[in-house]
Amino acid sequence: MRYKKVLLATDGSETSFEAAKKAKILLEQGAAEEITILTVVPSLDNHCDPTTINMLKEQAASLGHEVIQSTKEIFGESDRVNAVVEFGPPAEAICQYAAKNNYDLIVIGSRGLNTFSGLLLGSVSHRVIHYAHCPVLLVKPYREVSYFDSPEMVSGIV
Ligand SMILES: Nc1ncnc2c1ncn2[C@@H]1O[C@H](COP(=O)(O)OP(=O)(O)OP(=O)(O)O)[C@@H](O)[C@H]1O
Ligand SMILES: [Mg+2]
Repeated sequence: MRYKKVLLATDGSETSFEAAKKAKILLEQGAAEEITILTVVPSLDNHCDPTTINMLKEQAASLGHEVIQSTKEIFGESDRVNAVVEFGPPAEAICQYAAKNNYDLIVIGSRGLNTFSGLLLGSVSHRVIHYAHCPVLLVKPYREVSYFDSPEMVSGIV
């Protein structure tokens, strides 16, 4: 199976870097033809004055570009990898961008920057799995020990 257009959604988290590594393997093995790195800068609430809003927007956009830059480094030099920054609610922006531009696969981390909750899925990955028009490759955080290496952990999930 060969995916022509692959969309990699990243928020700069450890798990999204794991997702980037999986996308890189797809590219190297010829399972993906081209990859777009997408980071979405969440919408700002409009309660501040316009000058503050503009300043916050600029800061957020430059943060988005930093996320793109660090993700690009995982791929090294490749003319088959490009990047975009979008603005809006992340899950909706990811799904809309993928559908509008006819992507064949979305690669996403199971969790992101918010490491506080014990949930298996973050809200962005949860919504993308629901609303994406195409298959989604959900990449889990790196673990040295598998659940199935430890009887206590297995009994915790069954
Ligand atoms: N702003 C974003 N732009 C692009 N991709 C994103 C963005 N936020 C999250 N993602 C993608 O979704 C994956 C899961 O992140 P998500 O935000 O769902 O989890 P979380 O931060 O742990 O929890 P939550 O944000 O719901 O509190 C990330 O690894 C990344 O691939
Ligand atoms: Mg998040």
